[in-house]
Amino acid sequence: MIKYIGSKRLLVPHIVRGVAAFPESRRVLDLFSGTSRVARGLKASGRFVIANDHLAYATTLARCYVQADANRWLDEARQLVAALGEVSPSPGYFTKAFCEDARYFQPKNGARIDAIREEIARRALPPELEAIALVSLMEAADRVDSTTGVQMAYLKKWAARAFNDLELRVPEIVPGPGVALQLDAVEAASQAEVDVAYIDPPYNQHSYMGNYHVWETLVRWDQPKTYGVANKRVQCKDYKSDFNSKRRIGQSLRAVLEAVRCSNLLVSFNNEGHVDREEMVGLLSDKGHVGVVSVDFKRYVGAQIGIHNPLGEKVGRVSHLRNKEYLFVVSERRGTVDAVVGAIESSIASAALASRSGRSKRELHDSERRVER
Ligand SMILES: C[S@@+](CC[C@H](N)C(=O)[O-])C[C@H]1O[C@@H](n2cnc3c(N)ncnc32)[C@H](O)[C@@H]1O
Repeated sequence: MIKYIGSKRLLVPHIVRGVAAFPESRRVLDLFSGTSRVARGLKASGRFVIANDHLAYATTLARCYVQADANRWLDEARQLVAALGEVSPSPGYFTKAFCEDARYFQPKNGARIDAIREEIARRALPPELEAIALVSLMEAADRVDSTTGVQMAYLKKWAARAFNDLELRVPEIVPGPGVALQLDAVEAASQAEVDVAYIDPPYNQHSYMGNYHVWETLVRWDQPKTYGVANKRVQCKDYKSDFNSKRRIGQSLRAVLEAVRCSNLLVSFNNEGHVDREEMVGLLSDKGHVGVVSVDFKRYVGAQIGIHNPLGEKVGRVSHLRNKEYLFVVSERRGTVDAVVGAIESSIASAALASRSGRSKRELHDSERRVER
């Protein structure tokens, strides 16, 4: 899967265990699905998942990992990805914009990305198969990029992986039905009838459209006008999410909570976000009892490396290397909150035990439990 700020890569198993501990969890909404890691994990656990994100590349990921049924599409996907892997390189818009004017990829890989993307467009595929092909291409490009994980800048010196050859793989799609939506969160929350909603909004001012503009352009294939050293889509200038605004996030979260059609919620937020833990508990307590699990993490890779200017030059040091991810559990029933908090904690404890016995990398450090109200 692609590198993604705010991705819940390490939390997926714990979120799945938490969702399963609600008394009813057959239908689940992932309202801000991003990479679709969480939505995919929930689908793989046997649930019917509706995944929503307002950006085109994220909806494409959801169409691939949530909507596409492996029983229906896997054989065709294998043949298609093999055929796309044979397409001859042919430099075009992508190579010029992202390998020459900006340097996110080596031109040899840009020429293959251009040719494969053109071939996907030419084939006019059914939506699920097209999404699988686009995700295969996006993930292949991500493995040979030259960034720290966001597309606000590329590295001044090429990353070693950028010299590797682009290699398409078949995305690990999951059997069964599901739905991908591309709506504003409030609209999606009001449409989807579900038992549990997982809510993982952006937590700071950095816009996902800006951070991942190359994927948006690759998926839309609309050859947009671009600006600045990073060569972002001009659309990035005025396409904003209220969840990126310190002033507006409170009212936007309130609107989502009013719109959502269930009272069983799991909400992710970060201790460096625009809303602090107490404010979040205050907002959520309108929906019921609230419990909090707090997990200590390494900050994202860019923070580990340092602060860079748009040319990828190191211009500053970061103040701290760890942060906390909160999982807020909400239900009208106090017993349900306790059960879900307990399930998440025991999942984290088993992972920590496994890591201590050397079976997996030690990533999680501690978790602390508090049930308010
Ligand atoms: C923290 S990320 C979600 C990460 C995801 N859970 C994962 O593990 O990959 C937040 C997502 O919210 C999406 N988003 C931001 N504003 C939105 C809005 N108003 N409506 C729908 N999605 C939005 C962004 O595009 C981004 O993918």
